[in-house]
Amino acid sequence: MIGNIVRRDVVDSTNEVAKELVAEAVAPWTVVVAEKQVEGRGRSGRAWVSPRGGLYLSVIVQEDLQRLPMISLTAGVAVVDTLRDQALKATIKWPNDVLIGGAKVAGVLVEGIVGPQTYWAIVGIGVNSDFALEALPRQIRENATTLRHELGGRVDNELLLQSILDSFQSSYPAPGEERSVVARYNEVCSTLGKEVRVETNRGIVNGKAVEVGASGFLMLETKNGQRMELAEGSILSEG
Ligand code: BTN
Repeated sequence: MIGNIVRRDVVDSTNEVAKELVAEAVAPWTVVVAEKQVEGRGRSGRAWVSPRGGLYLSVIVQEDLQRLPMISLTAGVAVVDTLRDQALKATIKWPNDVLIGGAKVAGVLVEGIVGPQTYWAIVGIGVNSDFALEALPRQIRENATTLRHELGGRVDNELLLQSILDSFQSSYPAPGEERSVVARYNEVCSTLGKEVRVETNRGIVNGKAVEVGASGFLMLETKNGQRMELAEGSILSEG
């Protein structure tokens, strides 16, 4: 399925380049990869600091907009499984922060767009891979790590790219067949079982993270025993 890989040196954001390609009629499963981003974007309007040495890619797929949370989880699982293959103890903080030892090493930003004839998902993945931790600004560095830092040596971004793409493609769920990727997500998600404080569009909610369901939503159990499903949000604290 993985098709053409469009390689760029410096871009604003690989997700933006991917959107331009969709407007020009691109083949599904085209991948955009850049060496550096100057306006890399993270979730919730945050920036994604993207120095040289990191891995920045966007996979372009045709998707129903309601499946975007699921596709986002699938991308997180692909990154975690790739890192675990290298004996790194990677986990996911809901929805898709990839952590090693509690520090963030990768993130996923999925954006849906309406193309000329169909809906598209731009699956953006950023990995702090082959650069020193010092390349990140101090306040980001406090809660982040890089693969070079974890492994104590250089990282082959080309191999990393191929492994992530292979893993993403092989676990990509057909509609109605999301069960195995959801099961895998629940195995590697470090948020589950913890008391969490989550910032959502509708305010802050507190509760125990119970599981992630087939739609990619997080199930929370509140103090009074009620269950609540969160479609989106950022975890402010977990303990
Ligand atoms: C997050 O954890 O907040 C998501 C980070 C996603 C970063 C990647 S890098 C490739 C793609 N292009 C972007 O501008 N963002 C995503």
